[in-house]
Amino acid sequence: MRIDIVTIFPEYFGPLGVSLIGKAAARGDIDFHVHDLREWAHDIHRTVDDAPFGGGPGMVMKAQVWAEALDEIAPPAALQAARGVPAAALAAPGGAGPRLIVPTPSGVPFTQASAARYTGCAQLIFACGRYEGIDARFIDEARARMPVDEVSIGDYVLAGGEAAVLVMVEAVSRLLPGVLGNERSASDDSFGGASSGAGAPPDDGSAGGPVLPGPTGTGAPGGRPDGGWSTGNGWSSGGTETAASMAGLLEGPVYTRPRVWRGREVPEVLLSGDHAAIARWRRDAALLRTAANRPDLIWRAAADPGTLSPRDWQVLSAMGLSGVVRRDGAEPDAGGMAGEPARLPAGPENMAH
Ligand code: ADE
Repeated sequence: MRIDIVTIFPEYFGPLGVSLIGKAAARGDIDFHVHDLREWAHDIHRTVDDAPFGGGPGMVMKAQVWAEALDEIAPPAALQAARGVPAAALAAPGGAGPRLIVPTPSGVPFTQASAARYTGCAQLIFACGRYEGIDARFIDEARARMPVDEVSIGDYVLAGGEAAVLVMVEAVSRLLPGVLGNERSASDDSFGGASSGAGAPPDDGSAGGPVLPGPTGTGAPGGRPDGGWSTGNGWSSGGTETAASMAGLLEGPVYTRPRVWRGREVPEVLLSGDHAAIARWRRDAALLRTAANRPDLIWRAAADPGTLSPRDWQVLSAMGLSGVVRRDGAEPDAGGMAGEPARLPAGPENMAH
């Protein structure tokens, strides 16, 4: 994959030479090109911004400077065709052509699913805005000739797009073949797995109160007239299943040697050698952590029929979460802030394996 980054602070991207991503770049698996936007400025001061039309605070980055940078990094199709790049290669699905990504707090959320989708692109071009952003006409024009995503990494405002680009580049790069030492680790991640990002809560505008599609403490799946459980969804039907993918859940706690550290013991089951029990424990721990830190993800998992097993429902039931959740995914009478572990009735170590 080729990754171009356009910025007024090229030195910000030194970290791309470090660690697994640095090694992947050294091997040639990722081809990074960091460009100084000021190279395309026209005056002695190398100006890239100007005052906003309509007034207001701050400055806006000039469309012309950005357009000239983009024209050079990804020449318009006609130009490329003239240089002998076949039109079929430009239009090929899966991204033979470039894709422009503009980090902005006004963009669509960047997720693990976005990172996974970007791994299919041949070239990503990141445009790091500063000040109040980039003149919108540049983005409109770019959209006329390549896919463009305006993307936010979270609901907060950074001083510019650089830190967001580092985050996105790392999230994408570690999913590329050969970048992580252990190919399994990416699919075991929080949010990992094939269906991550799927199953958003319905946007019905209701203030709260929909009943989760699962059972309230019976261990039998809801929404099924026969009370049975399909084995086609990755789960066995007997409730003794080993955990499948952690898609949509946060990863639980991890431990390494020594077995006892400052009087704190590693959960017994992890020493048992019983792989099914360990997988189940990990699944329970993931459910507990997700319910504590991201109840909205529990809502999503509940709304996605293949995601929660009967055993998962038992675990949620033990937490008092299997009945009703609010529209925003929080437990209706939980009261406190998300992330208060004390509110959870039982840790996975207290549950039957
Ligand atoms: N630029 C400034 N804030 C940002 C954010 N939250 N995400 C992406 N780019 C940004």
